[in-house]
Amino acid sequence: MKVFELQDISYAHKNGHKALDGISFSIGQGEAVSILGSNGCGKSTLLYILQGLLMPASGRMRVFSEDGFSDGSRARISLLFQNSQAQLFSLSVWDELMFGPLHLRGMGMEAAGQRAEEVMGLLGIERLRDRSPWQLSGGEMKKVALGTCLSTNPDVFLLDEPTSGLDPRSQVELVELIAALKKAGKTIITATHDLHIIADISDRAIVMGENHRVLLEGGPQELLRKHDMLLSANLIHEHVHAHDGYEHGHTHYGPHEHHEHAHGHGPETAHGPEAGRSHGNEHAHEHEHEIGGHAAGGDITGRGAGPEPQSSEIMRKLKVLLPHWAEHNSEHARTYMEWAQKAEAAGAEELARTLKEISKEGEKLNALLEKAKKVIEGS
Ligand SMILES: Nc1ncnc2c1ncn2[C@@H]1O[C@H](COP(=O)(O)OP(=O)(O)O)[C@@H](O)[C@H]1O
Ligand SMILES: [Mg+2]
Repeated sequence: MKVFELQDISYAHKNGHKALDGISFSIGQGEAVSILGSNGCGKSTLLYILQGLLMPASGRMRVFSEDGFSDGSRARISLLFQNSQAQLFSLSVWDELMFGPLHLRGMGMEAAGQRAEEVMGLLGIERLRDRSPWQLSGGEMKKVALGTCLSTNPDVFLLDEPTSGLDPRSQVELVELIAALKKAGKTIITATHDLHIIADISDRAIVMGENHRVLLEGGPQELLRKHDMLLSANLIHEHVHAHDGYEHGHTHYGPHEHHEHAHGHGPETAHGPEAGRSHGNEHAHEHEHEIGGHAAGGDITGRGAGPEPQSSEIMRKLKVLLPHWAEHNSEHARTYMEWAQKAEAAGAEELARTLKEISKEGEKLNALLEKAKKVIEGS
């Protein structure tokens, strides 16, 4: 049976921001699908539509083989919000986990309590039982929010960037949990730009482009090999490919282990030769390097194979790359400053001064990157 059949679905937010443009796909019961795409391409909006929280402006949608939603179909679907605060409203974690079983599922107190216990055990959050959801860390909140989804035992999970904000071990555990749900026959649709998890959590991936349309569909491994598509969807950027002669030893979803290695970015990177060499674990810089791990053998680089790219192709890529470089550069500049302050607090004054200088240099580089961005936008 098909859980969702979407035909030409479009949606624009109230202020006229286009979020979805002619989306068509269908998802069968028990399927695990990743929705990939960069920030702003429409993933969250799509999940809201799949949960029935937003109505498409145009197009046709069937849910469990019926036109549109019924109360019954809506109750079978549970959405993990990207922002956990949007999900949590009770006074304690315990109440939060009891709400769904009691009020949405109509279970008795005892059965609901059992369910809440089970979910806490599954997520390892027993110690949070009496805490206020509002006073939890982002990662803890995310787990509780996921707990509220699990506690109603839905058939369909819509997960909006479920790994974001989780520490590396929790990310691995979450991926394992999704894999277990998948094995148990649940339908799981995960919006993410976390490429290194998609092979573990999905059988199929749908890539959305920055034009809010479906760019491509396919098996996760197959998609990961399509370098140009990932580049144009803004899911990778070029400096990933400078992993010459270097082998990744990490698991698919062992996040950030690669930061231990020296990365040897090519000279084209905007981070500067030293800055890019070895990132600290603190610095989330995940979305590009994972690709290197998956594309073992390095055949996605396209480097050295085939003719030199056309100048229009170079310009097209630069249009994607420059904003990314600028974004990363300012991210790095902020990180240097944060660490300068930490070093200062630790009494390492000279180091703190130097880090501040590095940060300031990074900010200067921003001005140049912005200038280059303007040039390319005007070209
Ligand atoms: N509540 C909102 N009001 C207005 N525009 C929005 C709102 N939510 C999202 N958008 C816009 O819709 C587009 C898609 O956003 P979203 O679905 O959140 O993307 P993603 O989840 O892929 O990052 C973006 O251009 C975003 O700025
Ligand atoms: Mg989103």
